[in-house]
Amino acid sequence: MTTNQTQNRIKIFDTTLRDGEQSPGVSLSVQEKVIIAKQLEKLGVDIIEAGFPVSSQGSFDAVQQIAREVKIPIICGLARCSKKDIDAAWDALKEATHPRIHVFVATSSIHLEHKLKKSQEEILAMVREHVTYARSLCKDIEFSPEDASRSDMDFMCKVIKTAIACGATTINVPDTVGYAQPEEFGERFRYIHNHIPTIAGITLSAHCHNDLGLAVANSLAAVRNGATQIEGTINGIGERAGNTALEEVVMAIRTRSDFYGVHTSINTNELFKTSKLVEKITGLSVQRSKAIVGKNAFAHESGIHQHGILSYKKTYEIMAPEDIGWEGDTFVIGKLSGKHAIDATLKEAGITLTPTQLESVVQKVKTLADKQKTVAKEDVVAIAVDALGMASVKEDAVILEDLSVLTGKNITPTSTVGLLINGEKKVGVATGLGPVDAASKAIRSVIGPFINLKEYNLRAITGGTDALASVAITFEDHKNRSFSSEAVDEDVIMASVKAMIKGVNKAMAAHAQQGDHH
Ligand code: KIV
Ligand code: ZN
Repeated sequence: MTTNQTQNRIKIFDTTLRDGEQSPGVSLSVQEKVIIAKQLEKLGVDIIEAGFPVSSQGSFDAVQQIAREVKIPIICGLARCSKKDIDAAWDALKEATHPRIHVFVATSSIHLEHKLKKSQEEILAMVREHVTYARSLCKDIEFSPEDASRSDMDFMCKVIKTAIACGATTINVPDTVGYAQPEEFGERFRYIHNHIPTIAGITLSAHCHNDLGLAVANSLAAVRNGATQIEGTINGIGERAGNTALEEVVMAIRTRSDFYGVHTSINTNELFKTSKLVEKITGLSVQRSKAIVGKNAFAHESGIHQHGILSYKKTYEIMAPEDIGWEGDTFVIGKLSGKHAIDATLKEAGITLTPTQLESVVQKVKTLADKQKTVAKEDVVAIAVDALGMASVKEDAVILEDLSVLTGKNITPTSTVGLLINGEKKVGVATGLGPVDAASKAIRSVIGPFINLKEYNLRAITGGTDALASVAITFEDHKNRSFSSEAVDEDVIMASVKAMIKGVNKAMAAHAQQGDHH
């Protein structure tokens, strides 16, 4: 790495396992934390804050286990300005290849008065004593003036100067309650640079909470004003409205490197996987429209967008889904989708249709999309296969004109079918054990007993009650020849009847060729 690259690198500090675990309702086992830490290592984060060792035996054990097993990133443990906290943190961290102790104390007058009940002089003394003590144990010390964004600027700077003088190597500026506004937060970083000469050579970090939905914006404002480390969590999880979503900061820096002029060491193609893992282990689901990792983050449904993307991806995509290792369909087929997207979906599945066939598939897909909002790729393919099958039988001897089925509790399933047989209309009525059986018997009552149903298989192509049903059947004729056919429809009975009619037509065509008569 060149000097310029090193200088312009923003370190990524992940606190999913510490601040993220403070999300209401989340409690992770040691083993779960180790699994996440290993994935964070693959992702390439610079620092993993693995826990707050003094807070519980579980947190201590997790920090210790991660310190033992995760070798590349710095492993960090949190401590208040208390010897007991610092000792616990060091005990848990000492086997780490790269250990860091993170010491913090509040500096806002609201916290001093109502929480700590201490004067500013007392806070300065606490910082002096505890940062010095932590540094005597570990050479990598991060210090945070908690609630910095609501602290008096000059007192905060005095505390930071003291922490640096006592050996802190990273200074982290937290917006603990998510109160800051981007310009104002950026200004705080500029102020620190302009008023603390010893900040040169120290890593200056931002740690934001999302109470006003500004955590990412505030973190990026800090970057614009000299921050060289950003703290946050995967999926933005954390207490209340959460922390800075690291995947968003990382991709903003990458996508707009022209604007920020900095970079991170994150392997962005591991972002999606990491997000999914954290979602699964914490049970905190990612909202569909969440930037970068949400289910819809790269999904286009409108025909105009899909057409644009097919012509040139950058018309509507500022990032490539593969850059974050995104898995999922980028094209969602819905009622706004046009023939370009449907054609592309089919070509991907190896199906090329004539313009007329395509038009008919587009209409069917739109009708289905009207009913069930989106149509899965498998359904689009199934509709096309169905259309192709229909088209290949040029002159069907039997055409279904009408179908009705009556079924329910305490009534015998009854079906009426209207068939055109070689142009002549015939109607059949039958009862059966179920609606499909009744329809099958009604068809046979018209076409005669020359074929028998041997196999019937019903399958839902996609999940949900609005899924397409696929029916595969096999008929056998009086000479034991079998005829198979398949059909799909969103109605189970229609799919069954369509498959039967297709099979009947196949059998009739074969019989006609061989001169059989019915
Ligand atoms: O939000 C906060 O202030 C913190 C500190 C412990 C850094 O999480
Ligand atoms: Zn925090």
